[in-house]
Amino acid sequence: MDRKWWKQAVIYQIYPKSFQDSNGDGIGDLQGIISRLDYLEKLGADALWLSPVYCSPQDDNGYDISDYQDIDPMFGNLEDMEELIEKAGKRGIRIIMDLVLNHTSDEHPWFKEAIKSKENPYHDYYVWRDGVEGIVPNGLRAAFGGPAWQWVPELGQYYFHQFSVKQPDLNWENPKVRREIRDMILWWMEKGAGGFRLDVIDCVAKDPDRLITADGPMLHDFIQELSRETFQKGDLVTVGEAWSANPENALLYSSPDGRELSMVFQFEHICLDQKRGGEKWDLAPLPFLELKRVLSTWQEALFCKGWNSLFWNNHDLPRIVSRWGNDKEYRVESAKMLAILLHGMQGTPYIYQGEELGMTNVRYDMEDYRDIEILNMYRERIGAGYKEEDIMESVYAKGRDNARTPMQWTKGREAGFTEGSPWIKVNPNYKEINAEAALADETSVFYLYQKLIELRKTYDVFADGKYRLLLPEDPDIFAYTRTRKETVLLVICNFYGNTVRLQLPEEFDREKKLLASSYRDEGPADVLKPYEARMYLIRP
Ligand code: NOJ
Repeated sequence: MDRKWWKQAVIYQIYPKSFQDSNGDGIGDLQGIISRLDYLEKLGADALWLSPVYCSPQDDNGYDISDYQDIDPMFGNLEDMEELIEKAGKRGIRIIMDLVLNHTSDEHPWFKEAIKSKENPYHDYYVWRDGVEGIVPNGLRAAFGGPAWQWVPELGQYYFHQFSVKQPDLNWENPKVRREIRDMILWWMEKGAGGFRLDVIDCVAKDPDRLITADGPMLHDFIQELSRETFQKGDLVTVGEAWSANPENALLYSSPDGRELSMVFQFEHICLDQKRGGEKWDLAPLPFLELKRVLSTWQEALFCKGWNSLFWNNHDLPRIVSRWGNDKEYRVESAKMLAILLHGMQGTPYIYQGEELGMTNVRYDMEDYRDIEILNMYRERIGAGYKEEDIMESVYAKGRDNARTPMQWTKGREAGFTEGSPWIKVNPNYKEINAEAALADETSVFYLYQKLIELRKTYDVFADGKYRLLLPEDPDIFAYTRTRKETVLLVICNFYGNTVRLQLPEEFDREKKLLASSYRDEGPADVLKPYEARMYLIRP
C-alpha cells in the first residue's frame, strides 16, 4: 500500500507567542522553540506546525501578515528560522509553516499600494466594490464582528474583509495574486519547510456578490493549480483549514492522488456543543451520540478514499480536558481518555502545545484577555443587552485565549515561560500542571501521549485499519475497532465520570493485549471506572 510518511506521523502544533520566551520580552520566540527541541523529540513529534511567525502588526496574533518572506522581530529573524529547520531536521522533525492566503494585513505593501488609487497595479489584489458611505454593498458580516466591508473615502470604495478590518481579503481571481502566492511558497520550500497548514483555505474563492464566502465555485480549481505548481514538487504534508468541509468535499481535498492537499481540518465535531443556528458562544451540552456518529461518519467516508486529520485542540479552541473531560478530580484520567479515543482513529493526529500535559482552560477578568475575537464579541454582546455573566461563561467555555496562555514548563516563576512578564497571564495552576512535573511522573499524561505516538509507528493497524463503531446507542461508552487483516485494535472509552458496566459482543471474549489505558490498574473486564479508556490489540 502506498504509504506517505504523514500517515504514520503525529504533528505537534506550536503557538510561538506562548511556547517559550528566550530573551525576556514576555513573548515566545524561535530560539525558545529551538531550546525545547529535546522535549519535543522526547515526546516523539514528527513535525511541528508553527502558527504564523511572519512580520505582522499582530492584530490577530500573526494571522495578519505584512511580509510573508520575513520573520517578525518579536520571534527572531530568518537565520533563527533556518537554524530551527536545520536543528529540528537533524532530529527527524519537520517544520510546517502556516500559510495565511485568504487575506493579508492592511499593512502589507500590496495593500498599502492597492489603497492609493483604483489605477494602482496592486488595487486588484484585493476585493473592492464601488459604493456610497454608510450603505454597505451587502449584509455579509466579518468573523470578528461588524460588516465585512470597510469604507475608503478617498477611493469611494469598500474593501472586503472576512476577518478583522486589518485583514483585507485577497482577490484570488487575479492570476497575479496566485502567482505571488506560488512564488512565496516555492521560496519556503527552498528554505526547507516540511509542509504547510493553509489557513481558512475554503474561503479563498469567495464571491461576495452572491454572498459566497466559503466553498466558492473556483475553490478546487485554485487549490489544484496551487498544489500542482508547489506542493507536488516536494514530499510535503499539507493540511487545509476548512470550516465548511463535509465528508463529500473532503474526498476532493484529500484525494489520495495528491491533486489537492494531504488532508483538511474539519470542524463538524467541534461545533456540536453550540446551539443550532447560533454561534460558538451560544453554549449547548455536547450531544454524545452525535459525537459518535459524526466522528464515525468521517472515519468511514474517507477510508481508502481520502485522509482524516485528528484533533481536539488548536489555538482557536478551548482546552479539551476542560471542554469534554473533567479538569478537576479526573483531569489526568479524562485527558488520557480523550487522547486514547482520538489516537486510535485513522488519520494524522495533531497535538496542541500543552495538551500533552493536560493543560486546562482559564477564567480571567475581562482585562486579562487579549484575543480580538473575545474583545469584539464582549463589546458587541454588551451592546446587544446580553447579561455580563452569560458573556463571561461563554468566554470561559469557548474563548481562544484558553489555548493561548503560556506553556507551563516548570513550577517556577511564570511557569518557566519567560524571565520577563508574559504578554498574557499564565494559568494559575502551573505549579501543579507543568512539563517538569509530568516528565518526573511515569503515569503522567505526557507519557501516555508519548506511548500513543510510538504505537502508531509500531503497528500498521493504526494507519490502515478499517473502522467500526461498537455500541452506537450506549450513552456513556465510545468504543470502536480498527481492523487490518487479522489484527484488531479495540478502543473502549467511558466518556463520563460515572462507573459503567461494559458489555461487548462475544467476539471480543478473546485474549487481548493492553496497549494503553487511562488507569494504572486494569479492574474487572466488565466495569469501566470514571473516564476509563483501554486500547487493546487482538491478534490471531
Ligand atoms: C483561522 C485561524 O486559525 C485563526 O486563528 C485566525 O484568526 C483566522 N483563521 C483568520 O486568519
